[in-house]
Amino acid sequence: MVASARTYPDASGTPFLKWVGGKRQLLEDILPRIPDRIRTYYEPFIGGGAVFFALASQDRFDRAVIADKNAALVETYRVVRDDVEGLIGVLSDHVEYATDSDYFYALRGADTDAMSEVERAARLIFLNKTCFNGLYRVNRSGRFNVPFGRYKNPRVLNPTLLRTCSALLRGVEILESDFEDIARRAGRGDAIYFDPPYVPVSSTSSFTAYAKHPFGPDAHERLASAYASCVRRGAVALLSNSDCDATRELYTDFEVETVRATRAVNSVASKRGAIDEVLVVGVKPHARRPMAVVPNDSALPAAVARKRGKKTG
Ligand SMILES: C[S@@+](CC[C@H](N)C(=O)[O-])C[C@H]1O[C@@H](n2cnc3c(N)ncnc32)[C@H](O)[C@@H]1O
Repeated sequence: MVASARTYPDASGTPFLKWVGGKRQLLEDILPRIPDRIRTYYEPFIGGGAVFFALASQDRFDRAVIADKNAALVETYRVVRDDVEGLIGVLSDHVEYATDSDYFYALRGADTDAMSEVERAARLIFLNKTCFNGLYRVNRSGRFNVPFGRYKNPRVLNPTLLRTCSALLRGVEILESDFEDIARRAGRGDAIYFDPPYVPVSSTSSFTAYAKHPFGPDAHERLASAYASCVRRGAVALLSNSDCDATRELYTDFEVETVRATRAVNSVASKRGAIDEVLVVGVKPHARRPMAVVPNDSALPAAVARKRGKKTG
């Protein structure tokens, strides 16, 4: 069992990073859709982890597995979990330079291979708090390339928050992984929340550019099929995405709700503001029984599970 709000009274469920697409403002829509008691909670696109930290602070799961494809992000979560005091020590050396752009660019360009895990995690947190809009973007060679954010007084170090997050991460499995490998573990009694890079809705984002995107149409199709498999195995599965025809077509068999979010990151200032997003919340009511009765493979004798694996692929 992970640490709970009862054992850590200051646990507010606040993430330790800013993350584009962060779900703090949609928690009111998301949290009531997740059962009060979860056997294992899975979050395969962890990002800033807003939903994970909220659920952890409410003590709603027995186990949790969080993952992301971003190796530097995954390393940072592990350092917060395993060596929060070391991290606070290194971060406190950076604090006085929070508004110094020369320092920012020097640290941004530093050789991360020569750093320890704790130093790399402190660098990622420092850059996250001081760069433009808390964006995470790397160039072709994997180098972080977001410009300095020019904040007046960015809070680079919040030791209480880091210690709380560390406590909430205790016992949590943290993996660098593609979402599919995580999704296939979710079954009955479990909950899984998917918050992928969104299908672009802007008319200026050309289809050709989207097709080449690392999370393009093929990835979204793979995701829709992973979602359907989780539901078939009896997991409570939620998924966020942009509200557009492409998303709705991928989830026609499922119940899709519209939720409002405010998004600060758009290159066109007039397009910043409230936008609609969708929340896929499971099977449509008329389809509920046949979909939900398929038990979790882990609850079946091995031979039956193997047979089912052959049938369903
Ligand atoms: C929209 S963000 C998640 C935001 C998060 N829910 C929050 O509240 O901050 C999407 C995340 O998906 C990750 N990602 C992209 N492709 C992935 C893949 N194939 N498998 C797993 N994670 C992936 C990105 O690194 C990014 O952290």
